[in-house]
Amino acid sequence: MTSAKLRKIFIDFFEKRNHTKHAPSSLVPLDDPSVLFTTAGMQQFKQFYTNPDKSKSKRLVTIQPCFRTSDIDEVGDDTHLTFFEMLGNFSFGYTEANRSKSKEKNQENTSYFKEDAIQWAWDFVTSTQGLGIDPARIEVSVFRGEKNIPLDDESIRIWRKIGVPNEKIKLGTREDNFWGPTGLEGPCGPTTELYVDGIEIWNLVFNEYYQDADGNLIPAQYKGVDTGMGLERLLAVLNGKKTVFETELYFDLIEKLRPLGLAKEKERIIADHVKGIIFLINENLEPGNLGREYILRRLLRRVMIIEGVYAQLLALCNLVFEMYQTQYRFNPGVQERLTSILEREWIQFSKTLEKGKVYISKLNTTRLSGEEAFRIYSTYGIPIDAQKDLLGDATVVDSAGFEREYLASFEAHRSVSRAGVAQKFGGHGLITKGGEISSDLSPQEYEKALRNHTATHLLHAALRAVLGEYVQQKGSDVAPERLRFDFTYERALTEEEKKRVEAWVNARIKEDVPVNFTQMDKGDALRSGALAFFPERYPQKCKVYTIGDQGHQISQELCGGPHVTHTSEIGHFAITSEKSSSAGVRRIKAVTSNQY
Ligand code: GLY
Repeated sequence: MTSAKLRKIFIDFFEKRNHTKHAPSSLVPLDDPSVLFTTAGMQQFKQFYTNPDKSKSKRLVTIQPCFRTSDIDEVGDDTHLTFFEMLGNFSFGYTEANRSKSKEKNQENTSYFKEDAIQWAWDFVTSTQGLGIDPARIEVSVFRGEKNIPLDDESIRIWRKIGVPNEKIKLGTREDNFWGPTGLEGPCGPTTELYVDGIEIWNLVFNEYYQDADGNLIPAQYKGVDTGMGLERLLAVLNGKKTVFETELYFDLIEKLRPLGLAKEKERIIADHVKGIIFLINENLEPGNLGREYILRRLLRRVMIIEGVYAQLLALCNLVFEMYQTQYRFNPGVQERLTSILEREWIQFSKTLEKGKVYISKLNTTRLSGEEAFRIYSTYGIPIDAQKDLLGDATVVDSAGFEREYLASFEAHRSVSRAGVAQKFGGHGLITKGGEISSDLSPQEYEKALRNHTATHLLHAALRAVLGEYVQQKGSDVAPERLRFDFTYERALTEEEKKRVEAWVNARIKEDVPVNFTQMDKGDALRSGALAFFPERYPQKCKVYTIGDQGHQISQELCGGPHVTHTSEIGHFAITSEKSSSAGVRRIKAVTSNQY
């Protein structure tokens, strides 16, 4: 069995049962700030479980790339991964009342629950249309219930009806047979799992509850199904391989590492992390010290610290691109970005790495405190996993303590930067979060600032049009006399590119298109494609500014405003300088109208 064939069999099977194939979501969840990454297929559908009418189809099927940091310490053993693909089928909006109706009309807009979900899972695994696995190899588990949540006897009944003998139906605890929610709150419920030769391959979640932010379980008005089956593990089982690392999805990567003579565990870590690195960079992430960016840095440095790997890294990445290019559309320019990020990160890391290694080699300890581990990270840039690597197995590192120190610094940093933002806007006397304009600007200055603010949105759109969609805003500053815009880009713009950017903006000014805003739910706004590079800074209800009219939309951004009402008010736009702001970030200064 190949991975391509397996993906196809899965999708075909559920399409035949009236599921609509849905595109995977990005690895960075758009509207759930309480989770760093997409860790399960259901995440992008979270709202459909409580609001089924928001989804046209009540039955969906996906192949979702996932990234989990929870198992990062375990990567290297036979089973754990950070990056993997999950096969899943989903249903929303089930109630006892619509049950018979859905039986009559077995269609994409009718929902289903335990009976169909379990029957189809069984059919997929055992029938020749699916995987054709001998039923004798299969065991299942069912939630045994606990104080306030009943035993899932309905699932037991269904498994028995299918013909699974009693001794192969195991009862599991809440820890093993209850799933979700992702993030701080959301749908969740008991699960039933399928095992082949003792290896768990499929998790069927029955969302019967909603867990609120205080941890209370509330019976859900609508019930739903969410299943997850890891592609890599299934592929290993189907091909009789002991580990995922022996399947085609890792084999070439491991082979490429062979000449380095590394321990098996290290080969596996590298093979896993290289995939994570590519898929995170494809999400426009840059390595950094906070949140998602820190995770990317951690993956990068974890592999870079292993002797001889940096020189191989690009070649390994190219293998990953080849492996996934038919399945996923990578963003244009991602390879160019990757090359430059690897180089930059290596240069930056190398500056402190040797000193850090010397420091660590002198530590005569069998136990490194979280505080000390964090100090090493902040002084020498060596992430915790790489520290463990240097210290060797004999030393225990207090990961939980590290995490506490890290979070404390993260929080400190956040409040400093929030204060900085407030001071900047306030002190500047211009635009505050609520869109108020300080009275210390004269009416003329105010007009100029408005023009520059709208021109900033146009410049942003122009850069994406001329240089590529992966251009990402890193900061902006609007003043009456000029605007300043920072964005990710690997090199200086050519004269020709600058001219094209200016011409693009001036063409939109000439078109004299309207500028409007609507008040929107943040999640809806992000889903509609509005740009927001600091989504966590916006409130749940926010403004989305649109430049253009129907059929000719030029830009859509989350923004507090205010703006001009028509682009012609800007007059004219000119770039006055373009230079490097920091590694991988460019800074453009520009003026509008009669200010030059
Ligand atoms: N959402 C089901 C799973 O991740 O197993």
